[in-house]
Amino acid sequence: MEFSIKNQAPEKLKTDCLVLGVYEDGGLTESGKAVDKACGHAIAKAVKSGDLTGKAGTTLLLAGGEGVAAARLLLLGLGKAAEFNEKAYRAAIAAAVAAAKGTGSKDAVIAFCDAPVKARDGAWQVRQAVIAAEESLYKFDQLKSKKDKDARPLGKLAFLSGDEAAAQALVEGKAIAEGQKLMKDLANLPSNHCTPTYLAKQAVALGKEFGFKVDVLDRADMKKLGMNTLLAVAQGSHEPPKFIICHYKGGAKDARPVVLVGKGVTFDTGGISLKPAPDMDEMKYDMSGAASVLGTLKSAAKLKLPLNIVGVVAATENMPGGSAIKPGDIVTSMSGQTVEILNTDAEGRLILCDALTYVERFNPEVVVDVATLTGACVVALGNVATGLLANDDALAAELLTAGQASYDRAWQLPLWDDYQELLKSPFADMANIGGRWGGTITAACFLARYAEKYKWAHLDIAGTSYRGNAQKGSTGRPVPLLTHFLMQRAAAAKPAKMVKAVPKIAAKALAKPTPKSGKAK
Ligand code: BES
Ligand code: MN
Ligand code: ZN
Repeated sequence: MEFSIKNQAPEKLKTDCLVLGVYEDGGLTESGKAVDKACGHAIAKAVKSGDLTGKAGTTLLLAGGEGVAAARLLLLGLGKAAEFNEKAYRAAIAAAVAAAKGTGSKDAVIAFCDAPVKARDGAWQVRQAVIAAEESLYKFDQLKSKKDKDARPLGKLAFLSGDEAAAQALVEGKAIAEGQKLMKDLANLPSNHCTPTYLAKQAVALGKEFGFKVDVLDRADMKKLGMNTLLAVAQGSHEPPKFIICHYKGGAKDARPVVLVGKGVTFDTGGISLKPAPDMDEMKYDMSGAASVLGTLKSAAKLKLPLNIVGVVAATENMPGGSAIKPGDIVTSMSGQTVEILNTDAEGRLILCDALTYVERFNPEVVVDVATLTGACVVALGNVATGLLANDDALAAELLTAGQASYDRAWQLPLWDDYQELLKSPFADMANIGGRWGGTITAACFLARYAEKYKWAHLDIAGTSYRGNAQKGSTGRPVPLLTHFLMQRAAAAKPAKMVKAVPKIAAKALAKPTPKSGKAK
């Protein structure tokens, strides 16, 4: 899809399809009023006749006619003006794109970006419009032998916006959407295609495309480094594990990097602690953290962010088998700490702990790991908020703000020392599970023991990175959150006169997204 911004009188816009918003009380946005006036109040008449209720998602197609340059007018119900929030706005964009596509139009202009969304500015609306439009058009058909082809595909989409930051917002929205698409394609690809080797190849290809160096370590390299907990997970599989390091260098030579670490379990059977059969196919998504790191690197590279970023992916399968680890096995991690593996299904932390030790060598400014780590996080937060735990409150606040700004939100859980005792083992330095309660927290507590040398945050995306059931598929989250996090950091690192080039976030949207309770102090 080709996106652009239009900033002119809506009635004069030459397009196959002009999409206008109508509220549930029949009210129009400013652009709608202008077009209505130009076409002899055809819109007001249609509303009056009851042909359009304005209920969210409903549509009415009118022919362009005299006074307006557009071939078609697509009226889209926006629901109640007072309830037109972020969710409603994104749903309206998706509905507009689907309906415009349905008319057979080759290009369309969405004119209701002027409908106010509480606490958000025009730049936010443009960014989200691109992201929501790409989301609604996304399909994963790589593995279909016959692909549905549109006879007259909608190829161009413009947004009407007078916001001075709209052009930059469009660039940002496109970069985020592209990163999300990469993540989705990788995550949706099943494990017989998307192996650790495949992930490594994709990372190398990304490095080639954007000119950054990518190192890939194999089993022997990892053995030399002493990454024994990672290798313990990998030892049950015939598929070779890969440890992937991407070096994006957009910042000053000596600037300390932001390190992103992704869990890349390309399939999680649970190992000898085998998972139950229902929905096990969804465990192909257990590399979503890895996919989000690669997706975010793509977004950052597209935006040429002036930062140094190290993207690390720890990739392996978790399989049962004759050589698989068994409950009770004790392994020495790269850090020297020993782990009693009581449950082989708690494998994510075993691969991440070695990755967290490995990244010490980069003298990181901050480290953020991203992982589909615990079912407990899905129980706690559902599929709306990503779980956030951190050993540094300022870093946690930065990520919460980025989540608010991108509408890809996280919620902080406590990482108090009191939880650490749940990981006690009689035979090793720690166990890899902490019992039944507070599973997301004890998993993070485990990781925290390997992240003591730097500022670190952990994003548990088990509930937010993909959807199951009927709408099964990767969501592309948390690429928007992470990209905003990096954009915020880039803005802070830049001289004041350049600040215009970064997202303008409505002050209200930034106002204290911090949870009222359960916050680590
Ligand atoms: N990959 C899973 C976590 C998961 C569960 C992601 C559901 C998405 C949806 C992880 O490796 C896992 O199996 N965790 C266990 C940990 C337990 C054994 C302590 C879990 O959450 O059940
Ligand atoms: Mn598991
Ligand atoms: Zn897992």
